[in-house]
Amino acid sequence: MIKKISHIAVVVPNLEEALGFWVEVLGLPLAHMEYVPDQGVDVAFLPAGESDVELLEPVTEDSGVARFLQKRGPGMHHICFEVDDIEAMLARLKAANVPLINEEPTIGTGGKKIAFVHPKGTGGVLVELYESTPEEPMRRREKLVEMRRRLREGRRVYTAGIRAFLAGLWGNGDKSD
Ligand code: CO
Repeated sequence: MIKKISHIAVVVPNLEEALGFWVEVLGLPLAHMEYVPDQGVDVAFLPAGESDVELLEPVTEDSGVARFLQKRGPGMHHICFEVDDIEAMLARLKAANVPLINEEPTIGTGGKKIAFVHPKGTGGVLVELYESTPEEPMRRREKLVEMRRRLREGRRVYTAGIRAFLAGLWGNGDKSD
């Protein structure tokens, strides 16, 4: 069963520049950032009510997201549905002969279970399925510490949106690095 739209993902060439629009102009909050090594992307989550806008910046040349950006330019990348039982949903799609990118769930950002459905089977839209797991908040916390280290070491010039986000992190009493 589908619970809601979890997020709509947008590929951007530069996360900080993108936040200038999404956070500073549009006014969405920057709730979370992390680096996802197996997808080669830096990710920012911006809640909009029940769902998030997910901004993806490819940071390696050879990832699927990097190829998407090279081929099609910035823009909408995928829509993600939160489901209560991802295995059941995958079984249902298989039974309907819908082509899947992931036959089995993989572990996505924050430890959640995810699987992608091929755009060939959905009328051209890359669809992600997501099921939350109990360890997700913990894993998410670890990822956040990792991202903070990355941002600190990156010596990039941050927009006000990222600066505010980092100030919130550094001000929250966490002494882990
Ligand atoms: Co996603």
